[in-house]
Amino acid sequence: MEFPSVVLTGVLSLPYFRCRSLSVIYGFPGSDRMQHFLWTAWNFIKLYILGAWYMAKELLVPHKKPTGIGPQNGRVAIVTGGGRGIGLQTVKQFLLQDMTVIIAGRDVTSLQKAVDRIRSEGITSGRTECLELDLMSLNSVRELVREFLKLNLPLHVLVNNAGIMFWPEEITEDGFESHWSVNYLGHFLLTHLLYPHLRKSSSKEMPSRIVNLTSSVHYIGQINFADINGRKYYNAQAAYAQSKLAQLMFTRILDKHIKAMDGNILVNAVHPGVVATELFQKVAWARLFPGLARKFLKKPEQGSDTVVYVALSSEITNGGNYYENCSITWPSSFSSNPKHLRSLWDISCSQVNVKEFGVL
Ligand SMILES: NC(=O)c1ccc[n+]([C@@H]2O[C@H](COP(=O)([O-])OP(=O)(O)OC[C@H]3O[C@@H](n4cnc5c(N)ncnc54)[C@H](OP(=O)(O)O)[C@@H]3O)[C@@H](O)[C@H]2O)c1
Repeated sequence: MEFPSVVLTGVLSLPYFRCRSLSVIYGFPGSDRMQHFLWTAWNFIKLYILGAWYMAKELLVPHKKPTGIGPQNGRVAIVTGGGRGIGLQTVKQFLLQDMTVIIAGRDVTSLQKAVDRIRSEGITSGRTECLELDLMSLNSVRELVREFLKLNLPLHVLVNNAGIMFWPEEITEDGFESHWSVNYLGHFLLTHLLYPHLRKSSSKEMPSRIVNLTSSVHYIGQINFADINGRKYYNAQAAYAQSKLAQLMFTRILDKHIKAMDGNILVNAVHPGVVATELFQKVAWARLFPGLARKFLKKPEQGSDTVVYVALSSEITNGGNYYENCSITWPSSFSSNPKHLRSLWDISCSQVNVKEFGVL
């Protein structure tokens, strides 16, 4: 399955196709509306080819369970968006390993209810704290870190999980497109603010870990450096793909920084699989045929398996990699381009006003 997968994802992310889509935007003669229509159609087609391929692949390739998970007693993790979906299942698996888990999400009452449900299922190990975080607001990210520091805990694992997919155009209070803010930029700032604490809690034997939730959709994405917010032509699919590509590229460039600073932290990116969660609430076919989605997509507990593997397994000894189904996989060519990595780093630092990453 790997060879056709590499070929297909490679083709979908080939510079030729990116140039072609750009030429559709900037060079195709015709009205603005026509250009926007072609851009939307192009993104739609790419998304459905990729989606169909991934669904077929996941039906044919056996699901791998995480291995090499040793005792984690007393270790502390933060999981963003841990109140439902893949995040909630990750929290559950961390608790089973007797970890202390900080669950960060928009509504603390519903997070507490989620914890009560976990406890009522008979999971009594581990500790939880629920803290408010709205990734649509950079101030909320800063406030979360202030609240976390009040707990006076070490920090060994950060799972940047929260996400939205295919939302209509919306600009945050800080002036950023919502997918960019929730899926990427908020997590970029959060990681910057928590970096010194991850570093302090890290050791050679047990390095701290950062897990960034990306998606196979990154293969069809590109970063529109000239117009990150997509103000000229907004397309929800392109906005999601851009944010997930950024999350992957952030992983790769942060790993280089960590190695240069000898930070002893492992940062990796994960595509959790195509998983039946509320993430699909804006996808017409999944809304119309929820039974079909539940039957053919992975279950949320399967979606958290690669996250848990990358966060806890002793088999993970390096950073900067992209994982699917508990294995390292090829990322897109766009995400490996040093010029793109540099530009993303510079633009992100300037958007959140960071002079030196990880230095407060
Ligand atoms: N499901 C898949 O097939 C799939 C595939 C590839 C990648 N992923 C990635 O996996 C991650 C988890 O997705 P999921 O499938 O578990 O989705 P989900 O069930 O929709 O959960 C998303 C989580 O993100 C939180 N969230 C949304 N907006 C937020 C905001 N502004 N501030 C803070 N938290 C916010 C939600 O909290 P609320 O309850 O407050 O809304 C929820 O806990 C996402 O990053 C997604 O892109 C998923």
